[in-house]
Amino acid sequence: MRAIVIEEFGGPEVLTVVDIPAPEPGPGEVTVDVAFAGLNFADVKARSEGYRVESLPFLPGLEVSGTIRAVGAGVEGFTPGQEVAAFLNGGGYAEVVAAPAATVFTVPEGLSLRTGATLPSVLPTAYGLLHEVGRLREGDTVLIQGAAGGVGTVAGQLARMGGASAVYGVVSSLDKAEHALKSGYDQVFLADTFDADVRGATGGKGVDIALDPVGGETFRRTLSVVGRFGRLVSFGNAGSEEPWSIGPAETYPLAISVAGFSILNMAAADPQRLREIATAAFRTVTDGGVELPVSAEFALEDAAEAHRLLESRTSTGKLLLRI
Ligand SMILES: NC(=O)c1ccc[n+]([C@@H]2O[C@H](COP(=O)([O-])OP(=O)(O)OC[C@H]3O[C@@H](n4cnc5c(N)ncnc54)[C@H](OP(=O)(O)O)[C@@H]3O)[C@@H](O)[C@H]2O)c1
Repeated sequence: MRAIVIEEFGGPEVLTVVDIPAPEPGPGEVTVDVAFAGLNFADVKARSEGYRVESLPFLPGLEVSGTIRAVGAGVEGFTPGQEVAAFLNGGGYAEVVAAPAATVFTVPEGLSLRTGATLPSVLPTAYGLLHEVGRLREGDTVLIQGAAGGVGTVAGQLARMGGASAVYGVVSSLDKAEHALKSGYDQVFLADTFDADVRGATGGKGVDIALDPVGGETFRRTLSVVGRFGRLVSFGNAGSEEPWSIGPAETYPLAISVAGFSILNMAAADPQRLREIATAAFRTVTDGGVELPVSAEFALEDAAEAHRLLESRTSTGKLLLRI
């Protein structure tokens, strides 16, 4: 089968197409003939910085859709030919993947495999951030960094659906602001001025929930606009700055909670919890009309091109590889 492999860390050019044997399912696993693979910003971090890469060569790709090819020992509930979407710990940019059955989901009725590939990572992440970690309540005000990206596009819609009284987004360009305004956001601010803008929009009170995938200075500025009893959830370091550190001086005065989230850790340590969150999150698509538009689709051999686009910070919504 054809797959993309990374033999050294570096620019998009290190994504190389290779011919390797298709995997067989181990106990508790299924194999999937891949139709589409979703791109995630974590793939860019893995390729460029070795984020969560244990050893080289490394097969990138955290999510796919396709049809079940074979079922391993001890797996129940899946049969060959069934349409599924899978969350993986790598290896998704390939014609065939092996996945733990615990993180394989039936594609909800009425959804295409193309839409299926957009679901496994971004949607449970956004849902978990808002409802489990952020503990979203009716009437809360919510601020979301990276509002036009994959997670940001669905997080805006989920916050609105969850009863937020105002949903504010932050983006790096006016084009992205236009996209976010179609995705549940009431107001979208540019990164340069967002802290002053949020203070203005909330009458100086700050927001109840803030989600930050950027880190560094953006994290600190986001913390400065979280209001009393507010919750700030850090879930990425897109800016590649030094990790933040905070203490009583930042959290005591307004009783702010700061939390983190990792879908990869949850998938590895508690796949059942991921399953529950994913099930609730997928329902917002089938029953609630939440959408994650695919803004570009690439052939497997053009994975480098897809990474260039994701890194350029000009893409919106979701990018897919068509296998
Ligand atoms: N912890 C978890 O479980 C988890 C799960 C999924 C994703 N994530 C994180 O969530 C974020 C979004 O992931 P995604 O896959 O949906 O990607 P994405 O949003 O499609 O693309 C990356 C986003 O990062 C923003 N960004 C801000 N500063 C950046 C910088 N210095 N360089 C590049 N991008 C920058 C970009 O928005 P602007 O250009 O508008 O700033 C863009 O929206 C990433 O940080 C990812 O690592 C975390």
